[in-house]
Amino acid sequence: MLKVSGLSVAYGGLQALAGVSLEVAEGEFVAIVGPNGAGKSTLMKAVAGGVSLAAGSIEYRGQDIGGLPSHARARLGIAHVPEGRKVFPSLTVLENLEMGSYRPAARRRRADGLDTVFGLFPVLRERRDQLAGSLSGGEQQMLALGRGLMAQPDLLLLDEPSQGLGPRIVEGIFEAIAAIRKSHRVTILLVEQRVVEALELCDRGYVLETGRVVLGGDRETLLADPRVQHAYLGT
Ligand SMILES: Nc1ncnc2c1ncn2[C@@H]1O[C@H](COP(=O)(O)OP(=O)(O)O)[C@@H](O)[C@H]1O
Ligand SMILES: [Mg+2]
Repeated sequence: MLKVSGLSVAYGGLQALAGVSLEVAEGEFVAIVGPNGAGKSTLMKAVAGGVSLAAGSIEYRGQDIGGLPSHARARLGIAHVPEGRKVFPSLTVLENLEMGSYRPAARRRRADGLDTVFGLFPVLRERRDQLAGSLSGGEQQMLALGRGLMAQPDLLLLDEPSQGLGPRIVEGIFEAIAAIRKSHRVTILLVEQRVVEALELCDRGYVLETGRVVLGGDRETLLADPRVQHAYLGT
C-alpha cells in the first residue's frame, strides 16, 4: 500500500532522513520506533505531505505521491495524527471532530464516524460541547485520534500518541489503537519512542536511528533481537 524508497529529507544543512526505505502492506500495522531526534516525525510529514523530499520516492497504492500537497494526499485516504495532538483549543470537541471529516467521502459518513469515535472514547461524547483546550492531555490525544478516524482513512499515520502522557493514560491510548485496528479495516503506521509498547502492538516494525533504518522485522523478531533488547529494553 505504501512504499517508501531511498527517502532523504534535509532541513538546511541537517539531514533528518538519509535513504529510508520501508513498506506497509494493505491492512498491516507497522511501527517505526526510535529515540528522540531519529527522524520519526519527519518521516510522517514526508508521507502526509509537510516537508519536501531531497531524494527518493513515496508510492501509495502504486501512485507516486511525493510531489502532491497534503490535502491531495488526505483525499486519497491518508490521515495524519500529528505529534503533540494539535487539536484546535478554541473549538469544541464536536467541532474538532467535524474538522476531521472534510473530505467528501467522510462527510457523507459523518454520523457513522461520530458513533465510532464516541464508542471508542465515551468521554468525548460527554464532553462534545466543551472546548478542546480544556481537555486533559490524554483526552486531547483521544480527540486527535478521533479526528483522524473521522476522515475514514485507509492509511492512518500516528505520530507518538504517548508523548507527554503518564503510563496509565498511555496504556489506555494504546488499547484504543489496538481496538481501532480490530474493528476497522484501516492500515496503521505508528511511530513511537516507547519502543516495547509499540512493538508489542504491531505486526511488523522498523528501528530508526539518526535518519536511517537500522533494523526491520516482525514483532517477535524485533522484540527478541539482542540490539533492541540492549538498547531499548535495558537487558
Ligand atoms: N523544522 C525543523 N527545522 C530544523 N530541524 C528540524 C526540524 N524538524 C526536525 N528537525 C531536526 O531533524 C531531526 C529529526 O527530527 P524529528 O523528525 O522531529 O525526530 P523524531 O520525531 O524522531 O524525534 C532532529 O535532529 C531535529 O532537530
Ligand atoms: Mg517526533
